[in-house]
Amino acid sequence: MTLAEQLEKMRRDWDERARENARYFVNTERTDWTDDEFFASGRRTVSEEILTDMINICQEKDPMQMKVLEIGCGAGRVTRALSDLFGEVWAVDVSGEMIRQATQALKDRKHVHLLQTNGTDLSAITADGSFDFAFSTIVFQHIPSKEVIENYVREVARLLRPGALFKFQVQGDTSIETQPDDTWLGAPYSDEDACAMAERCGFEPRYRHGAGGQYFWLWFFRKS
Ligand SMILES: C[S@@+](CC[C@H](N)C(=O)[O-])C[C@H]1O[C@@H](n2cnc3c(N)ncnc32)[C@H](O)[C@@H]1O
Repeated sequence: MTLAEQLEKMRRDWDERARENARYFVNTERTDWTDDEFFASGRRTVSEEILTDMINICQEKDPMQMKVLEIGCGAGRVTRALSDLFGEVWAVDVSGEMIRQATQALKDRKHVHLLQTNGTDLSAITADGSFDFAFSTIVFQHIPSKEVIENYVREVARLLRPGALFKFQVQGDTSIETQPDDTWLGAPYSDEDACAMAERCGFEPRYRHGAGGQYFWLWFFRKS
């Protein structure tokens, strides 16, 4: 399977999932999310992963003066909560249908910019070095190709200002076997793999938490 075929498969599969039941595939805790419950679950993610970590994330900046990026925003669950906190939010997803639903859900938020990507780069965003923080959760755990994930990490390095943080989650269970055409099970990373990727992409992998499990969190700080 070529890279182009793999990206096309990701777009097609996630568009289908979004049409079938976007909110379930975004957060499989429930099949029948109400608006309130769905966006409350996004606020919980932000409480757990962002509000507990403001020193690393903000680095003394006022959140309302910060420009942040989310990779794999789905139907806008976390994006909405990010936009309660930060002054400018950019969010991308490979699925046009997810972006359509997120746009509908966030149409009242003029400081949110939603874009469909080709599934591996951020070429639609050209403001190099202008972002203060980047975030991604339960996205890379669905991407079977390390080449695709690493390309995103390199692209985030291009967009972040020196010293800024990319906090993201990958699959850490290295017993998982992936198939190139399966867009549900993503490529697993050992601690060593994650550190090597950081070095290749211009990051310092300062903290890591959860190696060996599904929620392997990485704190990559952009090198100067
Ligand atoms: C489980 S959902 C999580 C959405 C969101 N991060 C959240 O927590 O609410 C995974 C999302 O990743 C997106 N995705 C999958 N592969 C992608 C890729 N290669 N590039 C960008 N987004 C991707 C899917 O379209 C989907 O919206």
